[in-house]
Amino acid sequence: MASQNAKQSVSSVLPCFRIVFSCFFLIHFLFFNDKLVFAQTPVYACDVANNPGLANYTFCDSSLDVKTRVDDLVKRMTLQEKVGNLVDGAAGVSRLGIPKYEWWSEALHGVSSTGPGVHFSSLIPGATSFPQVLLTAATFNESLFEIIGKVVSTEARAMYNVGLAGLTYWSPNVNIFRDPRWGRGQETPGEDPMLTSKYAVAYVTGLQQRDDGDKDRLKVASCCKHYTAYDVDNWKGIQRYTFNALVTQQDMDDTFQPPFKSCVLDGNVASVMCSYNQVNGKPTCGDPDLLAGIIRGEWNLNGYIVTDCDSLDVMFNNQHYTNTPEETVALSLNSGLDLNCGTFLAKYGESAVNKGLVNESVIDRALSNNYATLMRLGFFDGDPRKQFYGNLGPKDVCTPENQELAREAARQGIVLLKNTPGSLPLSPSAIKSLAVIGPNAQATHTMLGNYEGTPCKYVSPLQGLSASVSTVFQAGCSDVSCGTAQVDEAKKIAAAADAVVLVMGSDQSIETEGRDRVDITLPGQQALLISEVANVSKGPVILVIMSGGGWDVQFAKDSPKITSILWVGFPGEAGGAAIADVIFGLYNPSGRLPMTWYPQSYVEKVNMTDMHMRPDPATGYPGRTYRFYKGVTVYEFGYGLSYSTFQHSLVQAPKVVSVPLEEGHVCRSSMKCKSIDAVDEHMCKNLGFNVHLRVKNMGKISGSHTVFLFSSPPSVHNAPQKHLLGFQKLHLTPQTEGLVKFNVDVCKHLSLVDELGNKKVAIGDHVLHVGDLKHSFTVRI
Ligand SMILES: *[C@@H]1O[C@H](CO)[C@@H](O)[C@H](O)[C@H]1NC(C)=O
Ligand SMILES: *[C@@H]1O[C@H](CO)[C@@H](O)[C@H](O)[C@H]1NC(C)=O
Ligand SMILES: *[C@@H]1O[C@H](CO)[C@@H](O)[C@H](O)[C@H]1NC(C)=O
Ligand SMILES: *[C@@H]1O[C@H](CO)[C@@H](O)[C@H](O)[C@H]1NC(C)=O
Ligand SMILES: *[C@@H]1O[C@H](CO)[C@@H](O)[C@H](O)[C@H]1NC(C)=O
Repeated sequence: MASQNAKQSVSSVLPCFRIVFSCFFLIHFLFFNDKLVFAQTPVYACDVANNPGLANYTFCDSSLDVKTRVDDLVKRMTLQEKVGNLVDGAAGVSRLGIPKYEWWSEALHGVSSTGPGVHFSSLIPGATSFPQVLLTAATFNESLFEIIGKVVSTEARAMYNVGLAGLTYWSPNVNIFRDPRWGRGQETPGEDPMLTSKYAVAYVTGLQQRDDGDKDRLKVASCCKHYTAYDVDNWKGIQRYTFNALVTQQDMDDTFQPPFKSCVLDGNVASVMCSYNQVNGKPTCGDPDLLAGIIRGEWNLNGYIVTDCDSLDVMFNNQHYTNTPEETVALSLNSGLDLNCGTFLAKYGESAVNKGLVNESVIDRALSNNYATLMRLGFFDGDPRKQFYGNLGPKDVCTPENQELAREAARQGIVLLKNTPGSLPLSPSAIKSLAVIGPNAQATHTMLGNYEGTPCKYVSPLQGLSASVSTVFQAGCSDVSCGTAQVDEAKKIAAAADAVVLVMGSDQSIETEGRDRVDITLPGQQALLISEVANVSKGPVILVIMSGGGWDVQFAKDSPKITSILWVGFPGEAGGAAIADVIFGLYNPSGRLPMTWYPQSYVEKVNMTDMHMRPDPATGYPGRTYRFYKGVTVYEFGYGLSYSTFQHSLVQAPKVVSVPLEEGHVCRSSMKCKSIDAVDEHMCKNLGFNVHLRVKNMGKISGSHTVFLFSSPPSVHNAPQKHLLGFQKLHLTPQTEGLVKFNVDVCKHLSLVDELGNKKVAIGDHVLHVGDLKHSFTVRI
């Protein structure tokens, strides 16, 4: 007993000691953390100013070419040092003056804190948060895509200069929004490969291109992901980690691959990320044809190939694709992989070499691709604050201009889906009381979508609307799931108001990474709330849908009581202001849907996991996207109204396009050729035509209008029923005309892909579509 008492008294002293100790530890940790998170110095190598010995290293000599420097660096490193630098949390080589570097930063629609490479602090508490990508794509404004990229990279560089962000950004997401249920559809530019390619090239250029015109160097490094055929996250328990996408060669080459190809060939992107899923039985990060063959071989990537986080662990532990971790390492590196987001390569790289499964020369190649990218970013040129972009800092983040651009992008993207005469725009002077209803009316963080950062500030829809008129508010549902709608309270304010704005839709609890939808009807009792409120309203009823993907809102489209519908995507930090701009007519809406809105019956019939783009008459499978799906839609791709109407007239288009074939070409003698190869240099040279159109703003309000040029090829090779050749957006004041010129390159734009993936030009009658205009022409030999 006595001894026990003695023990107790000792242990009762210990906690105090422990508290003191742990408090000390905590303070120390916070201080350390403080230094880390609130750091004011950037991470860089070759700090010759403070360490003159480094000047002797060839790799630190910025006057030499990248290859010479990289070769010098890699040959100085031990195998152990090498493998420690093949992962996103790269160990550096302290004896060579190379610090640790975190490769994983994100900037999908603003500098994002999703990756560990970015931190916000009191120094830079937030960055400009642009609309989620799908809404920006809806602007169909290519110059805007690039300007946003440019602003984001300026803010990223500014954050790098004070130690709060990296130089390597794993954005954009250029996967095709193939199925309306996909939780990550919001991150993409939509369902069309051409639009996605154009977005990718413009955004990558905006991120990477330097203002001093130095083409060999990078402002920041961008990354196109997730290569490839990745668009199932978690649908009815089917997980992306083990999903095997069964893709035909034809779908691969005319749907899934084109955005990646454009990223590398036209955008000169510095990186491609391989995905988690398998394609036709092979994990993408371990497929030599997809990586070394296509990205490095055919497209000649100048940069590095990185895994998703952590595709290698997934390949081994979830897919059981290889027998040992070392085999996984060897397969991926030998397939052309350079960097691992995760720790797998660092853990098992050395033993894979020692077991003879992978040669050290392959490790050197991977490391060289990574270091070449960092060299192009200036990481090995000493203090970045003494270089170009060295003056960027906190003053360059969240500037009034950047925040205004976030608002401008949102209003350019917002899509007007329905507008009964007399509904929108609302005149603020005519509205004495506006009822604002809905679980997204006070949205702030929801407006950002995923892969977000901390924004500069928020303007919620309610705040945006209240800036112009007097409002009353009821949420109507406790959250977007809307289990039980509070219908009576909402009806009460609606009945008393001159107009009603319902702000409905979803948030990341409904659709996001790792979360695909099962249904595409509005969640819970949202539709009930909308209908009941509309029923008692005496003035205009404006339904605002804030969401990533599209919905079956046929009930609202059909209801005479619901006078207008707007899709506002996830509109970013200034979303509420942009919504108000459109509702009160300060901006004439010009957004167009970058994806088809299907009826609920579509998702009841079609498995999300069926990757086929083309319909199958034998099984009744309807196909996907406007290019192949012929069934009923709620709203179609490219749909969107304005407060004006625009009229198109054809000025110039060919009746006949003759393809010059060389003497002796088999199709010259045989009339049986349905198509000809579109790779022949002789044939393709200068083979093109112009389509000129006049567009007139018939309305009373100035506005921007997007002209879509679609073509329907002859029905050979399972060709799309229709595909986008080009789009152009122009601004027109009331009653004025503009001329739009498309230069159609026959081999590039008009061609299609056959069953084996070969590029072909179809012989016969093609139909051009612009709005309601149709024009036929014949391609002949
Ligand atoms: C650089 O190399 C030269 C020649 O090898 C040597 O004499 C000199 O001491 C080195 N400088 C430093 C700062 O290490
Ligand atoms: C390593 O390189 C040698 C020589 O080029 C080659 O014969 C061998 O197959 C390579 N080993 C692996 C595992 O690729
Ligand atoms: C609308 O109101 C009418 C009469 O006030 C009622 O009969 C009808 O059921 C209501 N409809 C809905 C959808 O609430
Ligand atoms: C959908 O997938 C399930 C499970 O893989 C399968 O049993 C079913 O036949 C598929 N349905 C259709 C219409 O393809
Ligand atoms: C495209 O966006 C830019 C940048 O906001 C804007 O200046 C321009 O007017 C837009 N183009 C059209 C046709 O609306």
